Amino acid sequence: MLREDQKFASSNLLKKLQRLQPLLTARVVQLETDLFVMLGAECFSGSLKGLSAYSSLQHTLQELGEQNFKGKTLLDASSGNFARALSHLGEYLNLDCEVVVSTKATQATLDLIKAHGAKVTIGGDTTLECYEKAKMLAKQQPEKYILTAQLDNWGNPQGHYDFTAPQIFKEVPDVQEIYMAMGSGGGVSGVTRYCAEHVPGTKVFVTIAKPGNKIVGTFSDDLDYETPFIHEARVSGWIAGELPLTTEDAKKGMIEMRKKYGLLTGFSAGGVYTAFKRRKEAGETNGPAIILAWDGHDRWIEKLN
Ligand SMILES: Cc1ncc(COP(=O)(O)O)c(C=O)c1O
Repeated sequence: MLREDQKFASSNLLKKLQRLQPLLTARVVQLETDLFVMLGAECFSGSLKGLSAYSSLQHTLQELGEQNFKGKTLLDASSGNFARALSHLGEYLNLDCEVVVSTKATQATLDLIKAHGAKVTIGGDTTLECYEKAKMLAKQQPEKYILTAQLDNWGNPQGHYDFTAPQIFKEVPDVQEIYMAMGSGGGVSGVTRYCAEHVPGTKVFVTIAKPGNKIVGTFSDDLDYETPFIHEARVSGWIAGELPLTTEDAKKGMIEMRKKYGLLTGFSAGGVYTAFKRRKEAGETNGPAIILAWDGHDRWIEKLN
C-alpha cells in the first residue's frame, strides 16, 4: 500500500512526462514543388528518436506502475539517438540512467549523455551486442534496473503512430509518398500502420543498408536484429518498397542536401534523400512526397568529412 506522499510522487512522473508533448513535433518545410522534409533535429532531444524514447518510457511506466520506478535506474541499449533521448528524459524526471552503447558511438554523443548525468557502458561493436548486455544486466539486477527495451517495446512504434504520422498528414494533407529509414522499425511500423488504417493509398518507402554496409539508424538484414515491429510491417505488406543503399549513398545525399537546400542532416536522412532522388530521376515518383530527416548533423561531427 502506498502512502499518500508516495502516490503523489509517482503520479507526478507520468504527468511530468506528458508535459513534454508540445516538444514532440518537428517542423515540416517545403524544398520543391512536390518535396517536403520533416526536420527531426527539432524534435525532443534533437531527433525523431526522442519520440521513441518518450513513448517507450510511457509504455513501461504504464506497464510496471510508477511505484516500481522509485530509486531505480533507467537502462537501455542504443546506437546513439535513443541513448541521448533516454538520458535526457532521466535527467528531466530525476531518475538515474545507464545506457549501453556500441564502440561506434560518437564522442559528441558520449559527451552529451554524460552531460545529462547518465552512465555510459560500452557493450560491443553492434547495437545487438549492446542489447544482449543490457538484457543481461537487467536480469542480474532486477532490483536496480528498469529496462525500457526499445527494440521490443511497442511503445516505440506507438509514438510514431500517435505523433509523427498525424503530423505528416496535417502538414502535407495530399502527401502521396513517405520516405524514411528503417532502424529499429519503430518509426516505420508506426507510420505504415497509421497509413494502412487511415490513408491506405499512401506509399511508404523504406531505406535499408545493403549487405556489408553500415548506415547509422538504417537497418541491415545481415547486422541488425529484426525487431517484432519490422517483422510486422514486412509481413503485413505495409511497406511499398525497401530501397537498399551503400554507406557512400547516404553520405552523398547528406552533402547534397547541405549544398542544395542548406539543410544540416545526419547520414540516415542523406540515404533517404538519395533513395527519393533515384526514384524521382527514374520517373517513378507520384505526387507530393515527404522525407523524414531523423536527426541533424551535429551528433556525427567527427564523421562528416
Ligand atoms: C539517425 C537515425 N535514423 C533513423 C532511425 C530509425 O528509427 P527507428 O528506430 O524508429 O526505425 C534511427 C533510429 O535510431 C536513427 O538513429
